[in-house]
Amino acid sequence: MIINQRKLALKQENASSFEDLLSQLLLSSDENGRFLSELEIANNILLLLFAGHDTSAASITLLMKCLGEHPEVYKNVLKEQLGILEGKASGEVLNWDDIQKMRYSWNQLNPPVIGSFREALVDFEYAGYTIPKGWKIIWSAVMTHKDEDKFPCVTNTTL
Ligand code: HEM
Repeated sequence: MIINQRKLALKQENASSFEDLLSQLLLSSDENGRFLSELEIANNILLLLFAGHDTSAASITLLMKCLGEHPEVYKNVLKEQLGILEGKASGEVLNWDDIQKMRYSWNQLNPPVIGSFREALVDFEYAGYTIPKGWKIIWSAVMTHKDEDKFPCVTNTTL
């Protein structure tokens, strides 16, 4: 219903092509002039709702939990953020580039996505095991995050 309403609005020029993702998906075609079907558009939007909303909400919730349960971590995170701000002109705020500098804060994030799937394209060796071509593999962000060599973090032991 929403897709049809938007199609009509675009036709009657009551909606802009830059309105949002739905307009973009309705108006973009591939190199052969093929447009997406309504099902493909609905699937793309549902994917983005899940990929963008649930991941962000889970990351923020886990971060709040970590900071709430560990006042000493909160203090260090705050110190790091204020330290980055110190180098800026007054009134300036933290930006995307600053995220790279937040090495301590980064360690306090817990991956909301457990991992994902891959397929081995060739035979390969890993940690003494042979993984044959064609095998399905799960990579796990959560397990890597629990490796204290890579993410030295007090909260790792409690989650
Ligand atoms: C904390 C927030 C987020 C986390 C932890 C996260 C996590 C991930 C991960 C792990 C993948 C790779 C999956 C794989 O290769 O198997 C992925 C891919 C993707 N994410 Fe996110 N994501 C986040 C935010 C977002 C947001 C805000 C959007 C869009 C609004 C988004 C859209 C996508 C899309 C479209 C892909 C597929 C990319 C591709 O391979 O074509 N994600 N995300």
